[in-house]
Amino acid sequence: MKGIVLAGGTGSRLFPLTKITNKHLLPIYDKPMIYYPIQTLVDAGIADIMVVTGGKNSGDFLRLLANGKGFGLKHIAYTYQEGEGGIADALNLCEHFADGQKICVVLGDNIIEKNIRGAVEAFRQQDKGGRILLKEVTDAERFGVAEFQGDHIVGIEEKPAEPKSNYAVTGIYMYDETVFDKIRTLKPSNRNELEITDVNNAYIREGTMTFSFLDGWWTDAGTFESLLRAANLVAQSRGVQAVYA
Ligand code: DAU
Repeated sequence: MKGIVLAGGTGSRLFPLTKITNKHLLPIYDKPMIYYPIQTLVDAGIADIMVVTGGKNSGDFLRLLANGKGFGLKHIAYTYQEGEGGIADALNLCEHFADGQKICVVLGDNIIEKNIRGAVEAFRQQDKGGRILLKEVTDAERFGVAEFQGDHIVGIEEKPAEPKSNYAVTGIYMYDETVFDKIRTLKPSNRNELEITDVNNAYIREGTMTFSFLDGWWTDAGTFESLLRAANLVAQSRGVQAVYA
């Protein structure tokens, strides 16, 4: 299975922190944000990784990550997203890299406590389709939200005003090679992006989407509040007390 970290977009919600650097290069406690999703893939046993960057500071990723030696990798592949056409638009750039294999995609601002080895192993055994990881949250309206009928997911709504469950779709997605055909059928959303939620709904309609619940804490880091929360969660998990004063 190949791994993909999506670190494009402008990080406009973190302005002015993102005025002169890329959101994914900002610190989360003692490491740049981008280190965490790469480590998530490495910890799941995925060693063939592409990073999608964008914006004015994309060269800094190369200086920071180089060939991935610091993660025990032999090589990291890079590509560049022009503009900010959405998560599915960024993923679309990886078709050549995926080369017909299954992929595990992690959003560049998603940080987790534990590991996803079990879910990745389950997806290796799955003959086709996709797999998403869900997490129960108290602020579901900020995320893609799963709608259930019994034990089945029947749809995902992107940032619904009235969420149909408390289960957020985390930014960790596993797909078979048909994902790129599905992206080709997408139309831009109201926020003028190709939405990953529309990709996931295409798998749900096809009846080939499975899911797992993510162990441990999970957070994104794309707003001031979640950036602070991410740093505190990482620090606490290393035994450091959060400092507020
Ligand atoms: O964090 C999980 C959530 O991520 C999901 O629950 C949502 O369904 C999904 O749409 C996404 O929501 P956000 O609106 O929070 O995504 P955001 O625009 O903040 O982008 C998240 C990451 O995706 C960002 O750190 C880099 C990557 N990205 C995003 C865009 C818009 C790209 O690589 N290119 C892009 O054009």
